[in-house]
Amino acid sequence: MSKGSRIPGFYKLGLDERRQQVAEHSDLTVDELDIALRSGGIDPQVADKVVENVLGVYSLPFGVALNFTINGTDRLVPMVVEEPSVIAAASNAARMIRSAGGFSAELLDDLMTTQIQLFDVPDNELAVSALTEAFPELLELGRQAVPNLVKRGGGPRRAEVRDLGEGCVVVHMHVHCLDAMGANLVNTIAEAIGPRTAELAKGTLGLRILTNLCDQRRVRVRARIQAGDLSRERPKTDDASSWAPVGDDGNAIIDAISQASRFAELDTYRAATHNKGIMNGVDSVVMATGNDYRAVEAGAHAYAARSGQYSPLATWKREGHDLVGELEMPLAVGVVGGTLRVHPSARLALRIAKIDSAAELAMTAACAGLASNLAAIRALATEGIQRGHMSLHARSVAIAAGATGNDVERVAAAIAATGSVSLEAAKRSLSEK
Ligand code: MEV
Repeated sequence: MSKGSRIPGFYKLGLDERRQQVAEHSDLTVDELDIALRSGGIDPQVADKVVENVLGVYSLPFGVALNFTINGTDRLVPMVVEEPSVIAAASNAARMIRSAGGFSAELLDDLMTTQIQLFDVPDNELAVSALTEAFPELLELGRQAVPNLVKRGGGPRRAEVRDLGEGCVVVHMHVHCLDAMGANLVNTIAEAIGPRTAELAKGTLGLRILTNLCDQRRVRVRARIQAGDLSRERPKTDDASSWAPVGDDGNAIIDAISQASRFAELDTYRAATHNKGIMNGVDSVVMATGNDYRAVEAGAHAYAARSGQYSPLATWKREGHDLVGELEMPLAVGVVGGTLRVHPSARLALRIAKIDSAAELAMTAACAGLASNLAAIRALATEGIQRGHMSLHARSVAIAAGATGNDVERVAAAIAATGSVSLEAAKRSLSEK
C-alpha cells in the first residue's frame, strides 16, 4: 500500500534510503528503482539507435519533489535538472500550498494543432470559403490517415482556416492525440490532407507541420496559500520543526509577492525571468518523463507573447488573507511512444508519480511550474535568493573540490557559513578534516 507525498527528513537520507522511501511511497520495488536509475538509465548501445553519431550518454540528476497534492491526489514529482535548489524549492512551495488543500488543475481543451501552409492563392476569400465548406471532407481525410488513433477514440476534431494575406492561407486541424504528445500523428494528418487543401484553395502546398503554439491544449493550475503558511522563514529543510515563524509577516509577504507578480505583468524583462522560474519546474518534469522540452518551451513563450506583449504565464494576487496563484500555458506531453519506448528512467518517472495519462502529466508539470514560481518570487520578495542558492551551490563546489560521503555536507556547510563559496575555500576546508 503506497503512502502520500510527504516524507519528512527525506533530504537527509542517503541515496539507498531515499530509494527505499520512494519504493514505499510508490508501487515500485527498490530493485526497479536501482535498475532504471543506474548509469543514467539509457545504455550507449540503445542511445546509438536513438540519435546519430553517438559517442555515449550524458546524465543529469534525477530527483523527486515532495509534498504535492494535485486535485486531491498526492504525487511524488520526478524532476531531472542540473540546477541546485529547484527541487528543494518546489517541494517547499508545494508544502505551503498543501496546507490549504493543494493544487487544483484542469485541462482546457486537449487538442494538438497541425498547420498546412498554402501560398500563391489567387483569391484568399474564395479559398477560405472553399476550404471552410470542405471541413467535413478534410476531417474525414484526416481520420483516414490515423485509423488506429481513431479506433482508440482520438483523431481530428475541428478544422480552421486562417487568411494570412499576401496570397497565403493556412489550414489548422485540431486533433485529439489521446495519451501521445502527438507530433507524428498530426504531421501524418497534415501530409495526408495537404494536397486536397491546395486543390481547394487553388494554391501551392507549403509546409505541413504541427504548431508548438498548441493553444488548444492548455493546462490551468491554481493554488492558494494562507498568510500563516507564508509567514514562516524560508526552510533550510523540509522538516516542519525547522520552520521558524516570523510573526505576522504573512500579510506583508502576500503584498510583496503580489508586487513581484505585478512587476512581471508590467515589464517584459522581468516576465522573461519570472517565466524562466516557472519553466524550472515544468521542464524538469518534462525531462524526467522523456518528453520534448524544446516543444514545451517554444509553446510556453509563444503563448506568453500572444497579446503582443510578452507576459507572465502565472500571476499571484491577494484574496482576503490568502495569496492565490494561477498558471495557464500550453503543454503538449505524452505518456506513450517517443523516448518512453527506450528510456527506463522516463518510464520509471511516470510510475513514481503514478501518472497514467498525458492529461495527468501535463497537470503535474504545470503544478511543478507554479510551485517553482512561488518559491522563487517568495524568496526574491523577502530575503533574496542568494542565501538558499549559495548553500546548495556549496555542495557542488564541495564535490568539485574532491569531497565524498559525509565530507560533502561538512565542507558545503563550512564554506556556505563563511559566505565565500569557492573551490579554494572548499579545498581548504576538506584538508582541515
Ligand atoms: C533561477 O533559475 C530562476 C529565478 O531567476 C526565477 C525568478 O527570478 O523568478 C530565481
